[in-house]
Parts: sequence; structure tokens; C-alpha cells
Amino acid sequence: MPFDHAAAMFHHQADGCAALGSPLSAALLRRAAEDLLAGGPCAEAVAGHEDAPGPDAIALRLLGAVHALVLSGLAPELAAHYPSVGGRFDPAEPDAPWPAFRAAVAAHLPFVRGWLTRPPQTNEVGRANLLFTALAWAQRELSAGTPLPVRLRELGSSAGLNLLADRFRCTSDGFSYGPADSPVVLADAWRGEPPAWLRGAPLQRVTDRRGCDPTPIDPRSADGSLALRAYLWADQLPRVQRLNGALALAAETPAPVEATGAAAFLRGVETAGGTLTVVWHSIMRQYVPADEWRSVEAELTRLATASSPSAPFLHVAFEPRRVGTGHRFLLTARLGAGPRTTLAEAMPHGLPAWTLAPDDPAR
Ligand SMILES: C[S@@+](CC[C@H](N)C(=O)[O-])C[C@H]1O[C@@H](n2cnc3c(N)ncnc32)[C@H](O)[C@@H]1O
Repeated sequence: MPFDHAAAMFHHQADGCAALGSPLSAALLRRAAEDLLAGGPCAEAVAGHEDAPGPDAIALRLLGAVHALVLSGLAPELAAHYPSVGGRFDPAEPDAPWPAFRAAVAAHLPFVRGWLTRPPQTNEVGRANLLFTALAWAQRELSAGTPLPVRLRELGSSAGLNLLADRFRCTSDGFSYGPADSPVVLADAWRGEPPAWLRGAPLQRVTDRRGCDPTPIDPRSADGSLALRAYLWADQLPRVQRLNGALALAAETPAPVEATGAAAFLRGVETAGGTLTVVWHSIMRQYVPADEWRSVEAELTRLATASSPSAPFLHVAFEPRRVGTGHRFLLTARLGAGPRTTLAEAMPHGLPAWTLAPDDPAR
């Protein structure tokens, strides 16, 4: 059957959405899988992509396309079920949105098929939680009375929203860090106590911010902000609110993202006296070809070697790492040519984070 493979991929993605807390996406993809096998509008939408390999994430492309319709005001009946635009979804009635979803696909086939040609690309604002944690750690290690101004450089920035991390606030039980009036609140930032160096840490002052990505998204453009919003799952309101807050900040604070890969970008980065130069990246290493990553490591070594107490350099990574039989999402930091330190672990979207026990093998 021509759509057997695609239907299996949709069920697999539905399981992933259910496990990651999006019952709306899971329910829609399960019904869409049935629609593929029955030759319904989802089959017409997916035609030509039915044999695409799993990493192409065709199911997520379809979900993103239809969310874009909703966000653009083109599917008002479905919008009534999408919490991202004020609608209501009851997990006890998971199939309620399906008829409107199917109708929206049928009514807007060229729009949906257009979106199926683009890979989903997100920018997870919650991951800034890890960036501030590492910045506060490094400033304490440098023992500067007042923190040094930060020159922030990001690899794989997507839309560059995490270049605005100093403008976000994070909170958890009895703890907060960041400007009190921020439109971006990273709630439930820590499971248990945050690290000691973060409590009472002075705010960071980023004086210069730049990033790179081979396919940057412009968060100030209508297309760019629609894409970022569309690829979020519509029933995950905290993510939606964080993104909307970060888009508002991006409109007032430039954070340029060069259209280039990590290695080429790093060749132009130098340390500078009186500032902390920071290279940071989150969940991008797996996309970089092995030979390019070797160049990235060589550039990071160059910067570490060139750094000094008066022109320090910090490398911060939030990336999955194999520990034992599984993958864990770990925050690591290396100040100058010092040792690489594992500072924390977090959920893939950066929230919540937690500190590691002294005997944790991930250290
Ligand atoms: C999963 S996204 C993560 C984006 C962002 N760092 C975040 O945490 O939200 C991975 C990003 O890496 C970018 N990327 C892929 N290959 C790259 C390369 N060679 N150099 C730099 N970025 C790359 C992709 O375009 C994409 O925006």
C-alpha cells in the first residue's frame, strides 16, 4: 500500500508527541495516519513525500502547515480547538478537533503542500535557562566584583532568540533570576535547588550578540515569526508564551544571525580585553558534519589558547551526550583552557534543569 510507510511514521511521531506532552498533536496524527490509508485529504497533501525517511519528519511538517493555517486566520473552526490561539482542547475528547483539521487540509491543499517541502525549524527559548546558568558560573570563577560585559556568539542560532537570554527571567520555587519586567518568563526553571552560584548572582550584561545558522530565520519578518510559531505544538501554552515574549523582544533588540555554518563563523571570532567572550550552542551538534565539527573544535581550542584573565573565553554547550545506555541533555562549560565541567542536566527544551549528584557518571 503506497501510504503504509507514511502512516507508520505518523503513528511513531504521535507516540513521540504523546510522550513529550502534546496530546492534541498525538490525537491529530493518529487520525491523520488513518486518513492516509483511507486516501483522504491528508493522503493528497502528503503525496510525493510518502516514502520520505523518518528524519524528514513529514508528520511534523503537516502539523506545522495546519498550525500555520490556524495562526493565519484561515481555519477558524479548527482554531476553536487550538489553545495557541485561545481555543480549547480537552484531552478527554481527543478526536473533537479532527473533523475541522481534515476539512482545513482539504480546503487549503496548495498551502499545506507548500509547507510540506520545508523542514521544521524551531528555536527553543527555554534553553536560555542553561546559558544564564553557565554565564553566572563563569563570572563567579573569574571572581570579578562586577560581572564582565559579555560578547555572546551562538552556533546554530536558528532565529537567534537565545542571543537575547540576558533579557529573559527564570523562576522556580523561591527563586528568580533576570529582569523582573521581562516578557519571557522561564517558569519551573529548576527541579530542586538551583546551583548555589546562581542564587543572588548579578545580572548579565550582553553588550554584543551575534550568531550563525546555515538557514537563519528572521524573527522580525512575518514569514519567520509564523514559521517559529507554527512548528510549536498548539497545546503547549508555556512554549507558545515564551516564544511570543521572545518575538516581542526581538522586535526591539537586534541579534544578527549570519547565514553560515559554525566553523566558518568561528574563524571570525576573537577574544577582546575587558569582556567575556562566550561561544554557546544548544542541540545543534548532531546536525554539523563530522569534518566541520573537527574545525569547530580547532577554533574553540584557538580561542581558549588565546584567552587570558583580562580577555577571558567561555565555551558553553547544551547538547545530548551518551551516558551508559541512554542520552542525557547536559550543560557543560569550559573557561579558557581549563577543564570542561558538567554544570547541570535538563529536559530537552531546557526546563526544568537540575544539578547532578557528586557521584553521577555524567560528571
Ligand atoms: C534543533 S535546531 C536548534 C536551534 C537552537 N540552537 C535552539 O536550541 O533552539 C538546530 C539548528 O542547527 C542549525 N545547523 C545545522 N547545521 C549547522 C551548521 N553546520 N552550523 C551551524 N548551525 C547548523 C540548523 O539550521 C538549526 O537551526
